[in-house]
Amino acid sequence: MTRGEKTTPSSERAPRQYRGRVVNRREFSAQFLWIELEAAGFAGAGPGQFVVVHCADESDYVAGRAWEDSGDWPRAKSAELRNRVALVHRPFSIADMVDGANGSRLALQFRVLGPGTSWLAEKAQVGAQLRLVGPLGKGFRMEGVRQAVLAAGGMGMAPMLFLARQLRRMGTEVVLLAGAKTRELLPLEITAGAVIDEEGEPSFCCESFTELEVKVGIATDDGSAGRLGLLSDSLADYLSRHRELCQTGSVVYTCGPEAMMSKVVQTTQVHQLPCQVCMERYMACGVGACQSCVCRQKSERSEDGWEYKLVCNDGPVFDGQSILW
Ligand SMILES: Cc1cc2nc3c(=O)[nH]c(=O)nc-3n(C[C@H](O)[C@H](O)[C@H](O)COP(=O)(O)OP(=O)(O)OC[C@H]3O[C@@H](n4cnc5c(N)ncnc54)[C@H](O)[C@@H]3O)c2cc1C
Ligand code: FES
Repeated sequence: MTRGEKTTPSSERAPRQYRGRVVNRREFSAQFLWIELEAAGFAGAGPGQFVVVHCADESDYVAGRAWEDSGDWPRAKSAELRNRVALVHRPFSIADMVDGANGSRLALQFRVLGPGTSWLAEKAQVGAQLRLVGPLGKGFRMEGVRQAVLAAGGMGMAPMLFLARQLRRMGTEVVLLAGAKTRELLPLEITAGAVIDEEGEPSFCCESFTELEVKVGIATDDGSAGRLGLLSDSLADYLSRHRELCQTGSVVYTCGPEAMMSKVVQTTQVHQLPCQVCMERYMACGVGACQSCVCRQKSERSEDGWEYKLVCNDGPVFDGQSILW
């Protein structure tokens, strides 16, 4: 796709339920997995959008089915509670859309944390079928961007490869700054033998981004890889060193813990750069029904000067300066 070419806004595409067959799986540490799924007809997704995945066996939904059959309210059995089954879908960013032999493949990247992601890590073997709904939410806006700085904290890395790929297709210059507590918690595959700059200056050190001609700068809280310190500080220094970025057409995109993203937004305000943030709130339905994912945003329409927005439907990507952190 070239710059200026019109794309159908992803929000216009209605989400659907799909069965995705796992066709590729990579474990790049005990905690992080990358899976690729073939889901017939899944298309039109943009970076920043997400899917929700059923992370439990069908037999775990017995209580819900009994309700449908009998009209009684569902009651979780004590065994289900003891086993901590993930009864509501779990949201995951679309990590990439890659060409496969049978059309587009949808990639997800996730960190194993609790019952849902543990189930996924065990069951998402090559050949397995997963139930998912998507594409959901409103993704990153990319039109007219000349230079993009991507700032990813921890698992906030998940939407970044897809975003970098789409921006590069539109001719945008892209650089990625990635941060984590330690090297082990960095969801990135570092190229063997690559030199990671200790000041956090980006280099071609991650294969999947190097293929897109995107340099990556790394920061870790304990200094075990790249620059010692917080990603938000690394970004502040990077923007001070690269003053040429403070001009029309440059955008900072960020995803990660909210404390980190709020500092990233403050930094971009200092440098007068627009910043798009991808929020990750707890979600139950993912489709605007349960109201569990609200965040407060500035609003001129409301007397109090703010209003609630739904991260699942109105976001997850928002203008960083509109959010009340
Ligand atoms: C729009 C969106 C996109 C996401 N994309 C990804 C992704 O691409 N890869 C990925 O690994 N994770 C992603 N997450 C987070 C992911 O959904 C949770 O890690 C997952 O639901 C955990 O489920 P679980 O049953 O394994 O653990 P749970 O028992 O539900 O949670 C385990 C731990 O994770 C924390 N946690 C759970 N959900 C969230 C959340 N939304 N934000 C912050 N902390 C949370 C809990 O506090 C708890 O400490 C995303 C979340 C949202 C809302
Ligand atoms: S997750 Fe249910 S309304 Fe957003």
